[in-house]
Amino acid sequence: MVRIIRINPGDSLYAQEVALREQVLLRPLGLDFGRFVELFPGYEDRFEHFVAVFDHPAGQRVIGCVLLLPDEPERGVGKLMQMAVDPQRQGEGLGRRLVVELECRGFGELGLRELYCHAQRGAKGFYEKLGWVREGEEFSEAGIPHVKMVLVAPDEEEGLD
Ligand SMILES: CC(C)(COP(=O)(O)OP(=O)(O)OC[C@H]1O[C@@H](n2cnc3c(N)ncnc32)[C@H](O)[C@@H]1OP(=O)(O)O)[C@@H](O)C(=O)NCCC(=O)NCCS
Repeated sequence: MVRIIRINPGDSLYAQEVALREQVLLRPLGLDFGRFVELFPGYEDRFEHFVAVFDHPAGQRVIGCVLLLPDEPERGVGKLMQMAVDPQRQGEGLGRRLVVELECRGFGELGLRELYCHAQRGAKGFYEKLGWVREGEEFSEAGIPHVKMVLVAPDEEEGLD
């Protein structure tokens, strides 16, 4: 069984989350976790960490993660970062479950009005499947093409009518 839970950096599962981020996201860009912390100073302490945990007989294993940075770049807006699923477990709906959990937290408990992320070009379709909408032109980040993807809180959308 795979559960989606929220952890903090003091949790025993945090080291596995960091290892997954390095494997899936950072090393392919020539980065490691230390360099990520340098590039985004102060972020790691502000993130809310969501992980997909597989209850393996030999112990719990983190097989997916996504991070939420609330009130970035301004109050009421949240940034999704570090979305990663173990390559052997991709295509099973775990990415969707992680983002839905992040949306529920962001729009529900935190009362954010908008979420956004900088999606790698190849992942744009994943966010579109979840209802996120592209905003603006493609841009380069960490040396590869990205697009900004946005999701507005459901009640904010109704307010636009
Ligand atoms: C992108 C990623 C997070 C998706 O996670 P996942 O668990 O494999 O995705 P899911 O199984 O939850 O897919 C949900 C839906 O999105 C679709 N989808 C998944 N990845 C996609 C992609 N790269 N492009 C287009 N659609 C995609 C799935 O087909 C599925 O569609 P369905 O609802 O019609 O069946 C995962 O593949 C990954 O970690 N990739 C490498 C790292 C990466 O690119 N991270 C994002 C950086 S911005």
